[in-house]
Amino acid sequence: MTRIVVLISGNGSNLQAIIDACQQGKVAGHVCAVFSNKADAYGLQRAEIAGIPGYVVDPRPFADRDAYDSQLMTQIDACQPDLIVLAGYMRILSPAFVQHYQGRMLNIHPSLLPKYPGLHTHRKALENGDSEHGTSVHFVTEELDGGPLVLQAKVPVFPEDDEALVAARVQHQEHAIYPLVIGWFASGRLQMCDGTPQLDGQPLPPEGYAADL
Ligand code: GRF
Repeated sequence: MTRIVVLISGNGSNLQAIIDACQQGKVAGHVCAVFSNKADAYGLQRAEIAGIPGYVVDPRPFADRDAYDSQLMTQIDACQPDLIVLAGYMRILSPAFVQHYQGRMLNIHPSLLPKYPGLHTHRKALENGDSEHGTSVHFVTEELDGGPLVLQAKVPVFPEDDEALVAARVQHQEHAIYPLVIGWFASGRLQMCDGTPQLDGQPLPPEGYAADL
């Protein structure tokens, strides 16, 4: 069974979808620990309810990002994970952290990458009058929101939408595609080979696969 460590900073609805998928046998793995940089992250309560150990690593006592990430790595590695899943983890990662988990760390980002890396993606989609928006699952590299794409899901954007409506529509898709990709990884179908992600032995297209949900 694949050992999954999930990093969060907030609500943890994606964490919940992953926990549920594992419990339902849709992912050949289990979440063995949840880490948060925020003590009040609701996702920690979700972990507790599911009987999963949750750990807070507060950045404030650390001198810099490298020192924090080094401590986080030590604690994560004590859980012996096969896969690290970023699920609304709102800290920039140091190069050493990214390199340490290269090929075994996934992120979900609420846009159709490479469009709109960074924050406020729903607002940007609305401001630009996009008729289409979505979410992307990708391997993590040192480039912020820039690693190889695995799977994207699109949602429509309607003229009367506001940010909350778009966010809810996007999250609905996230809760489907993130467990799906994690399931591929857990069953050995998805692998990083020499810097290129492969699904069932085939290199993924540069734009990733489009979810057909
Ligand atoms: C998600 O929309 C994800 O794309 C982004 O942060 C959000 C986290 O939401 N990285 P939640 O904490 O999983 O509810």
